[in-house]
Amino acid sequence: MKQTDVTFGHRESVRQEYEAKLSQSGGFCAHQLETEFGYDQEDQTAIPQDAIDSSFGCANPLAMGTLNEGGSVLDLGCGAGLDVILAARRVGANGKVIGVDMTGAMIEKARANVAAAGLDHIAEIRKGLIESLPVESSSVDWVISNCVVSLSPEKEQVFAEVHRVLKPGGKMLLTDLVMAPLPGWLRRLVALKSPAAAKALDRDRYLQTIAGSGLMNVSVRSQLDYDASMLRGLAQDELNIRMGLWQALLTLNRGQLTSHLLRPMVEPGIRLAANKVASIKVYAEKPV
Ligand SMILES: C[S@@+](CC[C@H](N)C(=O)[O-])C[C@H]1O[C@@H](n2cnc3c(N)ncnc32)[C@H](O)[C@@H]1O
Repeated sequence: MKQTDVTFGHRESVRQEYEAKLSQSGGFCAHQLETEFGYDQEDQTAIPQDAIDSSFGCANPLAMGTLNEGGSVLDLGCGAGLDVILAARRVGANGKVIGVDMTGAMIEKARANVAAAGLDHIAEIRKGLIESLPVESSSVDWVISNCVVSLSPEKEQVFAEVHRVLKPGGKMLLTDLVMAPLPGWLRRLVALKSPAAAKALDRDRYLQTIAGSGLMNVSVRSQLDYDASMLRGLAQDELNIRMGLWQALLTLNRGQLTSHLLRPMVEPGIRLAANKVASIKVYAEKPV
């Protein structure tokens, strides 16, 4: 199979995964958003509930730096618009925020949430790929992103695009998932359960990829290691399903059935992956 077919296939699985997540119960509760992800109460009251319910990030990229009024911001993989809305409130009426996402259902939600927040004169949601951004070169002061670049099989290309669209001296504030090398069977299990998560790199390679794009002063501002109980929380829906084999054979489709049969592997996998998965906050700048 050609590389382009593999990349296309992966992107389609990621799109389907996020469409499915949207149609399930959705993102995070207010307490989690504050304690684990760094969105304070003031941030949360400024956001329509649907943007909170449909958020799938791993930390607040805006908690890392100050956005100046009148500045321009680009959010890579903006999802349902949570960080776009917060950024728009910070840059104000003289600023501009662009959110880019590839998933139709997310884009519709983001546009509706931006409108509900009364910010559509500042924020615009564009359909596109982070590997080929629908954004002019040297046009934005900040690139932000929340748990998206790890999903891309073409990270060099994503950071080359970040370098292209930032103004000289512009800054990147990014949160993302990194994963230490895992045993082969566990990687394959992760890939089956979540094609998106399967593309995460280890931290050193991730940082080298950013530096390789020409961005400078690359630094990790903070790191949250996921222990077994946090990973268990992420896999909770799965662990809660109790179903006998006959019921599973009669009621589940092929994908669900495979997932169900692999369920006994989830708990051993969690114990092996504990503290090997982390969310990091990364800062970098484009040279002047
Ligand atoms: C983990 S969710 C994060 C969404 C949002 N940043 C948040 O914090 O809620 C990942 C998002 O990135 C989008 N995405 C993944 N790969 C992409 C790509 N290659 N180009 C554009 N969007 C992408 C998905 O559609 C999804 O909305």
